[in-house]
Amino acid sequence: MHSIGGQVSDTTAQPKSATKDAPSKPNWWRQAAVYQIYPRSFADHNGDGLGDIKGITARVPYLKELGVDAVWLSPFYPSELADGGYDVADYRDVDPRLGSLADFDEMVSALHASGIKLIVDIVPNHTSDQHEWFQEALQSPPGSAARDRYVFRDGIGPDGSQPPTDWQSVFGGPAWHQVPDGQWYLHLFAPEQPDLNWDNKDVHEDFIKTLRFWSNRGVDGFRIDVAHALTKDLSEPLPTWEELRHLMHENLPLDGTHPFWDRDEVHEIYAEWRKVFNEYDPPRTAVAEAWVPRPRRPRYASAEGLGQAFNFDLLEAAWDASEFREVIDDNLTLSSESGASSTWVLSNHDVVRHVTRYGLPQDPDTKNGKSWLMTDGKEPKLDRELGERRARAAVLLLLALPGSTYMYQGEELGLHEVGDLPEEAMQDPSYFRNKGVEKGRDGCRVPLPWTPDGASFGFGSNGAHLPQPGWFADVAVAVQENDPASTLWLYRRALEARHKLQSGEALEWVDNGNAEVLHFARPDGWQCVTNFSAQPVPLPPGEVVLASVPVDDEIPADATVWLKV
Ligand code: NOJ
Repeated sequence: MHSIGGQVSDTTAQPKSATKDAPSKPNWWRQAAVYQIYPRSFADHNGDGLGDIKGITARVPYLKELGVDAVWLSPFYPSELADGGYDVADYRDVDPRLGSLADFDEMVSALHASGIKLIVDIVPNHTSDQHEWFQEALQSPPGSAARDRYVFRDGIGPDGSQPPTDWQSVFGGPAWHQVPDGQWYLHLFAPEQPDLNWDNKDVHEDFIKTLRFWSNRGVDGFRIDVAHALTKDLSEPLPTWEELRHLMHENLPLDGTHPFWDRDEVHEIYAEWRKVFNEYDPPRTAVAEAWVPRPRRPRYASAEGLGQAFNFDLLEAAWDASEFREVIDDNLTLSSESGASSTWVLSNHDVVRHVTRYGLPQDPDTKNGKSWLMTDGKEPKLDRELGERRARAAVLLLLALPGSTYMYQGEELGLHEVGDLPEEAMQDPSYFRNKGVEKGRDGCRVPLPWTPDGASFGFGSNGAHLPQPGWFADVAVAVQENDPASTLWLYRRALEARHKLQSGEALEWVDNGNAEVLHFARPDGWQCVTNFSAQPVPLPPGEVVLASVPVDDEIPADATVWLKV
C-alpha cells in the first residue's frame, strides 16, 4: 500500500512476507540493495592500472560486510574501450585485460557463497566496431547478409556522398559513418558502436545465446543498456534532425512512433527474452535502462517483459522535499501499474556523483553538476560538506523506500566527483565529441581509494587508468573503516538495519504539517523522516534506529532519521 494525498492504495500484489524471502527465492530482487561495480575502476589485482575480475573477487568480503544483496557489473567483455566497455567486441567472453572466464566463474562462486547475487550488463543496441560481425560486414559488399546485421544505407546526393539523414549521435557529431565503398552505417552513440539491425534473425538468436551463456554460468540477472533503442523504423521519408532533436526522454512521443527510441516492437524482443529468463529457477531478472516518458516505463518493467525498469528521476531532481515527494509518488504509482517493484538511483557511471550535485546550488542550470565540471570544478563553488551531509540523508531516505536501491561504487565512501581531470587523462567519447560543451563522465569513474597511501591508494600495486586526486587519501576505505562516524559505517549500518526492518512493500505518508519534511511509515512500525530544510525540526515519537547525523530531540537540517514506532 502507499497513500497519495491521504488515500491508501495497493501498489503490489506481493504477500507481506515476500521480502523476508531468502535471497534464492524468485522475488529476491524486489527490494534488493544493488551495488554497481564499474569493473575497470573497482580493484586492480594484476597491477596494470585497470580494475579486473580477480580484483572484484578479492573484495567480496568488503561487499559482504557492506551488506549488499546483489552486484551489477558494468561491461567486462572484450572491448577497445571506445565507450568505457559499452562497445562490446565479444558478448560471451571476458576482456583478457580483466581476466578469463575461469576468473569470472570464481567470482560468481565467491559472490554466491557470500549470499550476493550477480547482475551483468547486456548491450544489445550496438556492438563494437571490432566485433567479428562488423568486421565481416566491412569485408562484405553492400546488400550482403553480413551487412544486414547492421544498419547500412546508401548515401544521398548525386554521388551518395551525403549521409542518409542529418541525425546527430547521442555523443555528438553525425549519427552515420561512411565506409570505404561509400555506404553509411548508423551509430546512435560513438562511430565505434555500430547499431545492430533487430529485424535480422541472427541478431535475435545471438542475444538469446548470450543470455543463456551467462545464465548457465550462474548469473542471476541482466541490466539492459539503452533498452528503449534496438528496434527502428527507417522507412522513407525519414524525419529531419530539426524534427527529432527535441524528442528525447520525457519528450518522446507517447505512441511509440519515434524512428529509433521506444518503439512498441521492442517489447516483442523482451517477451522473447522473458521466456529465456523463465527457463531458469529462480527466473533470471532484468532491469531496463529506458529513458522514456513516465507513462511508457511500466511496459518495460512488466512481468511479461524485463521485469523492472530504472527510475532516473532522482538523477535529475534537486535536493528538495517536494521534488522527492513527487518522484516517490509517481514511481510507486508506476510500479503498481507494472506489478514490478520500483527502483531508486542517486548515482551511476553516467552522471556527476550526487554527493557533489548536492553541494552545488540547486538551481536548474547548476544542480546536475555539468556546468561545474566545465570549469574543472571551480564554479559555482562546491560546498563539499553540505553535499556529503545531504547525500547521507538521501541514501537513508532511499533505503527506506519500498523497492530496489541501486548504489554506485564509491558512494558508500561519500566520494565526490573528480572535477579537475586534465585533458590528457580524458577517455569519454562524450568529451571528445562535444569539446567545449561536455566534460564527460570520467570524473565519476576514477578508480576507488582503498588505502590512504600506496601507488594508487590501494586500487592496485601500480598506477590507476584515471588519475586519482590527493584528497582520496582522506576518504579511503581503510580510513573510514576506523571511523564509526564515517559514511561507510552509515551505509553498513543502514543496509544491516534495512534487512531487519523491511517486510511488505507498503508506504504510507505521515502528515507532519511541514512541506520541507518527508515522513513516511513502512509496515511493522518502521518510519523514515527527512528534514530537507535548513532549520532543525522536532523529532517525532519513536525509537531512533539510525540517523544520518547525530540527533537529540530535534532533527537537524538536511538529515534523515529512521524510527521504530
Ligand atoms: C548507457 C550506458 O550507461 C552508457 O555508459 C553508455 O555510454 C551508453 N548506454 C551507450 O552504450
